[in-house]
Parts: sequence; C-alpha cells; structure tokens
Amino acid sequence: MAKISTASLLKMKQQGEKISTITAYDASFAKLFDQAGIHAILIGDSLGMVLQGEDSTLPVSIEDMAYHTRCVKRGIEETLVIADMPFMSYATQEQALTNAAVLMQAGASMVKMEGGAWLNDTISALVERGIPVCAHLGLTPQSVNIFGGFKVQGRENDKAEQMIADAKALEGAGAQLLVLECIPASLGEAITKALTIPTIGIGAGKDTDGQILVMHDALGIACNYMPKFSRNFLKDTGDIKQAVELYISEVSQGNFPGDEHIFK
Ligand code: KIV
Repeated sequence: MAKISTASLLKMKQQGEKISTITAYDASFAKLFDQAGIHAILIGDSLGMVLQGEDSTLPVSIEDMAYHTRCVKRGIEETLVIADMPFMSYATQEQALTNAAVLMQAGASMVKMEGGAWLNDTISALVERGIPVCAHLGLTPQSVNIFGGFKVQGRENDKAEQMIADAKALEGAGAQLLVLECIPASLGEAITKALTIPTIGIGAGKDTDGQILVMHDALGIACNYMPKFSRNFLKDTGDIKQAVELYISEVSQGNFPGDEHIFK
C-alpha cells in the first residue's frame, strides 16, 4: 500500500471506497494497525479516558498529545496520522497556530478540532499555513459540560439543519475531512451527501464515507462499558492484527456498522 494522504482519502470517497480509521496512542499498536492496512490513525484526546482513566477528555494537555503523536509516528509507514487538538488549545486563532505546529512537528500530517462555523477563520489560517484540518461535529466530547452528558446530537430538526450548515461552512473554510460522532444515521447520510470532502462516522450510521473507532472499544478493552456504536472485533478473531483486518473488511463491505450500532 502506498503512503496515504488527504488526497488518497478524497479519491476513496469519489470512488465509493470506504475509509477505515482507528485511534492509537503508541508505536506498537500504530505499527500493527499500519501493517493491517488501516487508512488513517487518530491520536485521539480520548487518551484522557482510555489511557489516563479520566472521566472526560478535558484534562488532556498539548504536551500529552505531542508525546503520544511522537510515539505513534515512530510505528507508522503508510497510514495517515491525525492528531487531536485538546480542550482549549485552539480557543483563539493564535493558540491554534502555535499548538497545531507542535503536533505537526511531533509527526502529525493533519490536526483535528471540535466545533462548528466558529472555527472557520481558524481553519482557513491553518490551511493557508500548510496545516491540513479534520473537523469534528455531533457529540464533540470537549463540550460534554454544555451537552449535559455524552448524548446523541442532532435529533431535532433545527439542530440537524444547523449541523448541515456547519459542515458546509467547515468544508468551505478548507477542512479536508469531517468526523461525525453520535448522530442519527439519516443525518450522517445527509451531511455526507452534502459535502465533497470525506466524512468519517462514529455512531453516525452506515452511509458516512468511513468509520472510526477508539481502539480500546474495537478490541473490547473498555473498562465496564461498550458503546452501542462499537463492536468487539477481537472476540471474533482472538488476534489483534486479524481483529483490525476484520474491522477494515467489515467497513469496506458495508457490514459494519450494523443496524444494532446506529442511532435513529
Ligand atoms: O478522541 C477521539 O478518540 C476521537 C474519536 C472518538 C473520533 O475524537
């Protein structure tokens, strides 16, 4: 497999090929996922929850993200590396430029930020300076205190329309990828059809251009709780590399997510 870029993901969308992505936080898992043929790896600020044992992503720092991005990058040959900008690291445009540079210099090829059209100017400024951006809408975990919990978003008509408008604005500002988290499957489909850039869903239905899972969920390591939108691929295979290969093939064939993993 050749080195994957944002252009490769765009081509996959255009050709109707499904994109498989997963989180990783260290070199060993990153290498294994890269060798299994995953298209992109996200160093998610979910590391606050799955590695650090926090009850949200808010305590994660830019230093944490840079450290884990450096670790992951050392395991990668072909996969696209995306790093999350943590809570309040992009509250102003100046902070975003400084902190995105830290993650790019740590080895990311793209940074991810949570939020709607308020990010337009920041995204344009980053893209103009050579930093590709993945946007993130729906259940954006850094806003958990605004949402009052980890709840499905976009069920009401006005909220769904707002999300479609935000998605178009983010694409217009220069975002090259969009993560959609925990929204009704019909909204995932509507946003995907409205955009030229690829959408990557997590609890956003079957019709997004790709899927992402937190690696701990995909391997059934989550302490106590398996989210509705996830599946334990390790249970079906008993081997981590084969589990990720199964995940990739189930996404590619449209078998994952199944009806039991989607929100209405
Ligand atoms: O932090 C993370 O792992 C994420 C994914 C759930 C999309 O943002």
